[in-house]
Amino acid sequence: MKRLEGKITVVTGGAAGIGQAIAARLASEGAIPVIADLNFEQAQKTAQELNGIAVQTDVTSSASVNALADRVLEQFGRVDIVVNNAGIHIQKLAIHLTDEDWDSIQNTNARGCFFVCRAFAPHLMRRESGRIINIITKITGNPYSSAYVASKSTILAFTQCLALELAPYRVTVNAVAPGHIGPGTGMEKWFRAKADLLGQPWEEFEQAVLKGIPLGRWCTPEDVAGAVAYLSSDDAQFMTAETISVTGGWSGYSSTPKKEMV
Ligand SMILES: NC(=O)c1ccc[n+]([C@@H]2O[C@H](COP(=O)([O-])OP(=O)(O)OC[C@H]3O[C@@H](n4cnc5c(N)ncnc54)[C@H](O)[C@@H]3O)[C@@H](O)[C@H]2O)c1
Repeated sequence: MKRLEGKITVVTGGAAGIGQAIAARLASEGAIPVIADLNFEQAQKTAQELNGIAVQTDVTSSASVNALADRVLEQFGRVDIVVNNAGIHIQKLAIHLTDEDWDSIQNTNARGCFFVCRAFAPHLMRRESGRIINIITKITGNPYSSAYVASKSTILAFTQCLALELAPYRVTVNAVAPGHIGPGTGMEKWFRAKADLLGQPWEEFEQAVLKGIPLGRWCTPEDVAGAVAYLSSDDAQFMTAETISVTGGWSGYSSTPKKEMV
């Protein structure tokens, strides 16, 4: 029997990128993935490939998230693993962020994670079993990313508190913090934009990134999925309120923004 055999697993933002890799890895270990994504067409494609289901979901809307929970419970009668992966990023200096930029990042990343946890946690608590895994980032202290990093720090703090609230019910809540995931992924555009913002040619930027990663390569979505699979498994049953970093040993950000006229 596979280690996640039959586990009903909700992955927000599971249609593409890291979420898709997580859903694929958990499905390969026997889980039944529920792909909860804004992009329904892509979600359906991914769900079909992985023998799961797609539910169009907007994590910024509590009504949409509650409808997701209702649908999953109606169809499967339970949920075992919830992965909060949906996330967006807008790269700007803090002084250039608009009200809307700040709000949309917070609403998708932090508020979305809260809505999903609030909707599914009572079911996990009643069954006294289950896993919540929140995808954050290891890249903090990062120029052009203040709103994004602030939203992920909110998720980290929320994770640590929720873990204690759910511990009496034997439901674990942990985070996975990826490092630099770039070429060949949806995130490549962010790193290319970052190189432009720093005024560096891509090759120079990439070399500098790789120099800071002791294991000498970019992180892949599959690396992140491996950590999520571990946290989903029985091997991690005594682990809660923790963060697994998947960085290749990278430990700090070194780039500084260009000085500009203000
Ligand atoms: N790529 C990296 O370097 C990196 C590093 C650290 C953390 N992360 C985090 O990993 C997660 C996934 O990143 P990615 O690079 O795969 O992103 P991506 O843009 O490739 O995919 C994100 C998915 O989320 C969906 N989505 C967006 N808004 C949504 C909403 N409101 N409701 C439901 N679904 C929504 C999108 O449709 C898409 O399928 C994010 O939380 C991101 O912050 C990424």
